[in-house]
Amino acid sequence: MFEQVKLAFANDGLEPVIDVATVETHYGKHHVAYTKAFNDLVEKAGLQDKSAEEILSNLDQVADETLKTGLRNQGGGYLNHNIYFEQLKPASEAKKAPEGALLAQIEKQFGSVDKLKEELNALAASQFGSGWGWLGKKADGTLVTYKTANQDNCYSLKLDSVPILTLDVWEHAYYLKYRNLRADYLKALWDLIDWSVAEARYNG
Ligand SMILES: [Fe+2]
Repeated sequence: MFEQVKLAFANDGLEPVIDVATVETHYGKHHVAYTKAFNDLVEKAGLQDKSAEEILSNLDQVADETLKTGLRNQGGGYLNHNIYFEQLKPASEAKKAPEGALLAQIEKQFGSVDKLKEELNALAASQFGSGWGWLGKKADGTLVTYKTANQDNCYSLKLDSVPILTLDVWEHAYYLKYRNLRADYLKALWDLIDWSVAEARYNG
């Protein structure tokens, strides 16, 4: 049984960057729905003994096209939101900058953390329609930035990458407060991103 990651904050804990109504809807409605739908499909497919990452990495083994599409969309919706919500903390609690191996790799590849943020924000802002911006780690330890459409991720697309950070650019993530200003949401979101979570993912 797949479960939503527990929030490290109350629904109003991300104010004013992310408003309480967005958390209530995003985590309390959208993510709940993805999780329920994914669990139903996993049961139907008899894949209860697999992790979400394993299921999404092996969709080609699901013969039924409707079931395959459902697992890809609902499973991605379930997992992507766990990755997203796990990395968010109230602005007063979030670790504002990376240290150690992750910082060294960012500086080596991007020049600085600010340059990485700029690149990721531009990438996520340019995603046409719904999707996600990602910072990932390849098997050789190097970092990679990319964007995905809908609920796709490195597992369903079979990319050489594990997630380090993700930026949700579905309208449901920002539209109640930021309306059409996706770039403003992305700029503000960094105040809530807890780099200790990114470090744990990078070092893990
Ligand atoms: Fe979302």
